[in-house]
Amino acid sequence: MIGILGGAYLWVKAGHLIFVIFWMAGLFMLPRFFVYHQESAAGSAEEAQWVDREDRLLRIILKPSIIIVWLLGLALALDTGAFGQGWFHLKLAVVLILSGYHGWMVSYAKKLKAGQRTLSGKMLRLVNEVPGLAAAVIVVLAIVKPF
Ligand code: HEM
Repeated sequence: MIGILGGAYLWVKAGHLIFVIFWMAGLFMLPRFFVYHQESAAGSAEEAQWVDREDRLLRIILKPSIIIVWLLGLALALDTGAFGQGWFHLKLAVVLILSGYHGWMVSYAKKLKAGQRTLSGKMLRLVNEVPGLAAAVIVVLAIVKPF
């Protein structure tokens, strides 16, 4: 499969990075929305607005981005033979953790929609550090390829 993308390789890589940016932006925004959502009165019009904003962020930005990042990333990996390289194994592990975090955020949005506010604002601000840390590790692995 090595070289399957041919001359399209750099375009696929550019697409990969464009959607990485969209995905990260969405992951940074969603817990902030949750914090403001939880500061609104239960059952208020403001709460309904936050539910709507969260729905749209998930549907228009986050869902398409995670799918495209994965598809283009896997195409790049097949093209370059990355599956046999050490840095890629760790990158894949961190990306899986990030995808799990994404899934957890989706499930928390559903809880909030059902009126269950189980996490404190402080906790939400704290978990908001996860995508930043994961992105820093992933970028170093993908660019420096230390092993
Ligand atoms: C979702 C699964 C992902 C897969 C399967 C994947 C796979 C890949 C592969 C195979 C490359 C080509 C590396 C090379 O040039 O040899 C690449 C490039 C890159 N990826 Fe990903 N990636 C994924 C997600 C991410 C995420 C979440 C980030 C950042 C937060 C990221 C950042 C980068 C960067 C910065 C490059 C450019 C490296 C370079 O050209 O030097 N990737 N990715």
